[in-house]
Amino acid sequence: MRYIAPSILSADFARLGEQVDMLNRSDAEWIHVDVMDGVFVPNISFGFPIMQVLQRTAKKPLDVHLMITHPERYVERFADAGAYSVGFHLEAVDDPMPILDLIRAKGVRTCLTINPDIDVNRLLPYLDKVDMVLLMSVFAGFGGQKFIETTFDKLRIVHDEIVRRGLNTLVEIDGGVGRQNAARLFDAGADVLVAGSAVFGATDPIEEIKILKS
Ligand code: DX5
Ligand code: ZN
Repeated sequence: MRYIAPSILSADFARLGEQVDMLNRSDAEWIHVDVMDGVFVPNISFGFPIMQVLQRTAKKPLDVHLMITHPERYVERFADAGAYSVGFHLEAVDDPMPILDLIRAKGVRTCLTINPDIDVNRLLPYLDKVDMVLLMSVFAGFGGQKFIETTFDKLRIVHDEIVRRGLNTLVEIDGGVGRQNAARLFDAGADVLVAGSAVFGATDPIEEIKILKS
């Protein structure tokens, strides 16, 4: 599939309601929700108060990306706060399996993520244990960074393995995605593209989402 998930991190928080309305009217399939704790990543974004606003106002599934240590402490609360999917970083935990179970027990879709410096082979044993894997194409922590081209090599490895094993695991790419690489990423097997600054920095975000999809 070819899904676009605009990252609310790049929205203007003074007009959050308006921006969510815009996404509701757009062709974006999901809304990506970046949660940062200032420990796992050198930045702090937002938590439950914003999540609650999104739960009330968003008409699209909320794709939650936890950039936090000890995700096991919070995954259930994000599920209860209306997440459609909850993802956390493989390198942030010792054993992802019990955390994936917590998410699944809430009836929420699971996602495992790796930063650009993590060996993609570490993700492969979990391909049949999650609904989605997220390959970071920038180092987690900030919007507006430059896309790391070697993401394509990782995407190829993950995509080939998914096809070889006949799985329906989705692949999401996050960071530095825009019109310069969206089509190539979809063609290389990405299912979901996160776009923050490309969407919210555009003069016409609704049109930009259309362009990213085509
Ligand atoms: C980075 C976040 C990304 C980011 C994407 O830590 O996970 O979702 O907001 O923003 P852009 O598209 O501007 O790179
Ligand atoms: Zn993200």
